[in-house]
Amino acid sequence: MSKKSSIFAPKLVNWERMDKQRTLVTAALPYANGPVHIGHLAGVYVPADIYVRYLRLKGEPVLFIGGSDEHGVPVTIRARKEGVTVQDVVDRYHYLIKDSFERFGISFDIYSRTTSKIHHQMASDFFRKLYDEGKLIEETSEQFYDEAAGEFLTDRNIRGECPRCHSQGAYGDQCEACGATLSPDELINPYNAVTGNALTKKATKHWYLPLDRDEGWLREWILEQHKEWRPNVYGQCKSWLDGGLKPRAVTRDLNWGIPVPVEGAEGKVLYVWFDAPIGYISNTKELCDQHPELGSWETWWKDESTRLIHFIGKDNIVFHCIVFPAMLKAHGDYILPDNVPSNEFLNLEGDKISTSRNWAIWLNEYLDDMPGKQDVLRYVLTANAPETKDNDFTWKDFQARNNNELVAVFGNFVNRAMKLTEKYFGGKVPAAGELTEYDKATLGEFAGVKDEVEHLLDEFKFRDALKAAMELARIGNKYLAETEPWKLAKSGGSPETTDHADGMNRVATILNLSLQISANLAIAFEPFLPFSAEKLRGMLGMKSFEWNQLGRTDLLEEGHQLGESVLLFEKIEDDVIQAQLDRLARIKEENEAAAAAEALKNWHPMDVKEQTTFDEFEKSDIRVGTVLSCEKVKKSDKLLQFRIDDGMGGRTILSGIAQSYPNPEELVGKQILFIANFPPRKMMGIESQGMILSAVNADGKLVLTTVSAEVRNGAQVG
Ligand code: 2FM
Ligand code: ZN
Repeated sequence: MSKKSSIFAPKLVNWERMDKQRTLVTAALPYANGPVHIGHLAGVYVPADIYVRYLRLKGEPVLFIGGSDEHGVPVTIRARKEGVTVQDVVDRYHYLIKDSFERFGISFDIYSRTTSKIHHQMASDFFRKLYDEGKLIEETSEQFYDEAAGEFLTDRNIRGECPRCHSQGAYGDQCEACGATLSPDELINPYNAVTGNALTKKATKHWYLPLDRDEGWLREWILEQHKEWRPNVYGQCKSWLDGGLKPRAVTRDLNWGIPVPVEGAEGKVLYVWFDAPIGYISNTKELCDQHPELGSWETWWKDESTRLIHFIGKDNIVFHCIVFPAMLKAHGDYILPDNVPSNEFLNLEGDKISTSRNWAIWLNEYLDDMPGKQDVLRYVLTANAPETKDNDFTWKDFQARNNNELVAVFGNFVNRAMKLTEKYFGGKVPAAGELTEYDKATLGEFAGVKDEVEHLLDEFKFRDALKAAMELARIGNKYLAETEPWKLAKSGGSPETTDHADGMNRVATILNLSLQISANLAIAFEPFLPFSAEKLRGMLGMKSFEWNQLGRTDLLEEGHQLGESVLLFEKIEDDVIQAQLDRLARIKEENEAAAAAEALKNWHPMDVKEQTTFDEFEKSDIRVGTVLSCEKVKKSDKLLQFRIDDGMGGRTILSGIAQSYPNPEELVGKQILFIANFPPRKMMGIESQGMILSAVNADGKLVLTTVSAEVRNGAQVG
């Protein structure tokens, strides 16, 4: 954790102007089961932060609420896999995520967590009020149960054959092979994903939110009153509503979460999607309790004049547009969201971002690998934001946008304006003289930018708003390139002037205008690139600034002393990009090796492969060998490198089973089975000459196969 004082403290603000439009902005609470990646940033946190910084700059009362989502099944699975407590897992990731956001400049007013006391109380009270007022339905139903383990299973922990594509290992909520949304009842031969045990059904009581009763007002509220919502959000809501809403369980049989505050509900907790959005409310309360100057949390959540805006990713739309509003309405005291700007997904180098496959750029790693380059990532993720459709992040595009746009346009312009002022005017803002027609035309172009950026930000069109703000830099860069003040200063004249003094007057005018445009950039870019905007304000010696100054050409007074000039952006060289591409290539190789092992894990005794023939089987050359050495492949979590005595002079084989063998040296001397006639493949720069056979045990670990008595190395199996 960084030691400096937290940026997570209420910002701004002119709280006396509470009469102005009050806006409460929330950003989806990330699960505390892994670090945050660029998909999260592009989808939720960067746009939310731009919006909030913009409102603050306008002097509007705004709170920006964040926090970690620490309940749910994934954290429990992770803890079980790692052999640590669930609290350990959420502590680790909560602090990692919080610290990364802070370093990245996501300017939350509070970043708290759903394991906080305040939250447990708030969520518990919320449930209890709905329960007491009869707003929930109580129902006993048959749920999947693992007799041997003595536990009910959540959807994600049930696996089986997909009823649509018949691939093995589909989850109870989704088939990752064909993408179908499933319910556990649809799975063929369901089993416990962790123990592998077959499942039975057992009766259990749960509480449901009767969403079917909300259909009427939800249709009117969303489909009639919020036609301005983004088409992807509106469209998803419409299809849910057209499909008909069903009651949704808001409790689960699980030992991690907020206990259901009702007698007879022992061993049950609130469903994570019931408690998580209430986290927005609890975190607001926590913040307002600490800072009375912000007013009561209830004003922010219950006063009709507050605008509530939820920034989320597209997989969260139904929860924020239908389920949470239904909860708020059932409670009765709360306002409903005004808008829910949700983005689509960001892919990475053409593939879907995936936490489990490590196919991601993790924020904490980016911050370590690219110190001082927060704004480059903020820029690229905004310029390429998946606002209307899925988009792709590539390292080449990252480099090109940095080098060709930030460095060559923005940085180059500001740097020239600063350097020339230092050189010819001792770093003091020179006086502007009479404007030429060209100056006036430039100012004409520049004048419209403020309204355009503002209008686009008000409509949550961040990508276009950034483009419009970049126009300022382009206008400035073109102006300097075309007026060439450095030549005027050297020759002491120009086509329009004949003597040196006149020439320098012209240079002064050009630089004055260029510095005024730079000061505008320092304001316009505060929401988008806060680190660079701050640097720029330091260079220009700007003390105070606000959004409404945008468009003015008198921001820096004549004679004002500029600060020291530093480079705003630096060129990114090919080797830096290549290192990142190499990292991804290694991950891809590892994933391929692990996929073979994974396929085995997904294999369940109840699944029988298609029939084959002896001739087909005969094609595989399976043999016995003895492990001579076995060690972890450097920089790989999954690969082990085996040296095998195969009776034919020896061979090297890589196998993606490192996670099942933390002490690989203990395999030395064991006889194992391997396929000898696979074509050689290079992984992580090492050639693998075959495939080692393994089977999966009851804990989901891979174990190597062997022979029941010693045989000669190289002996064929058949
Ligand atoms: O999808 C997710 O990452 C969830 N943890 C988002 C929760 S948003 C809110 F409801 F807290
Ligand atoms: Zn499927």
